Amino acid sequence: MPVTSPSKMTAPPSTTYKIVDVPEAYRDVIQQHGVAGAFVGPSERESPWVPFGPNAAIRHLHFDTRHNIFGNILWMKSAGVIGTHKHRGTVVMICLEGSARYLEYDWVAGPGDFIYETPGLIHTLVSDHPKGVKLFGWLQGPLEFYDDNGNFVETVDVWWFIHHYESYCREHGIPINKQLYL
Ligand SMILES: [Fe+2]
Repeated sequence: MPVTSPSKMTAPPSTTYKIVDVPEAYRDVIQQHGVAGAFVGPSERESPWVPFGPNAAIRHLHFDTRHNIFGNILWMKSAGVIGTHKHRGTVVMICLEGSARYLEYDWVAGPGDFIYETPGLIHTLVSDHPKGVKLFGWLQGPLEFYDDNGNFVETVDVWWFIHHYESYCREHGIPINKQLYL
C-alpha cells in the first residue's frame, strides 16, 4: 500500500483478518473490575426514538451515572427551535444529517461537522433545514433550560435522560436495553 502520510507511525502493521492474543499483565484484574463495552444497533427495539416536544425525538445510546454522561441522537424533524439552555458540563456533537446552528453564533453545522460546547455556554439551538437535523451528542453534566423570558424551567441530566428512555419503553412494551448503561 502506498504511503500517503509523512507520519512516522507504522501501525497498523497488518491487513490480516485475525484475532491476535495480545499480552496483558492485568488480564485478571480487568476481567474482575473492568467494564464491558457496548453496542446499540439501529432497531427501535434496541433504542426507540422517544418524543422530545412536538417536533423532535431523542434516540438514547448511553447512560453513565458515575460521570453524569449521556450519549444520544437528537432529531429535529423539521425547521424549528430547541429552547435556550445553559451547560454545566462539556458537550461533543457531530451533525449527521440536515443542519443546525445557534442563534448566538455565526456558523451553521452540516453533515460531518463537529461542535464542542463548554461549561457556562448559554445558547438556543435552531434548524433552518426543511428536514431539520440529526445531531449525535456526547454530553457531560446537566443542562438548564429557560423559557422565553429567561426564567429557569428544568434541569436535564443523566437521571432525566434515563427516565425519558425508560418511561417510554414501559409505555410501549419495549424491553430496557442494558447495553445503554455503563
Ligand atoms: Fe448546547
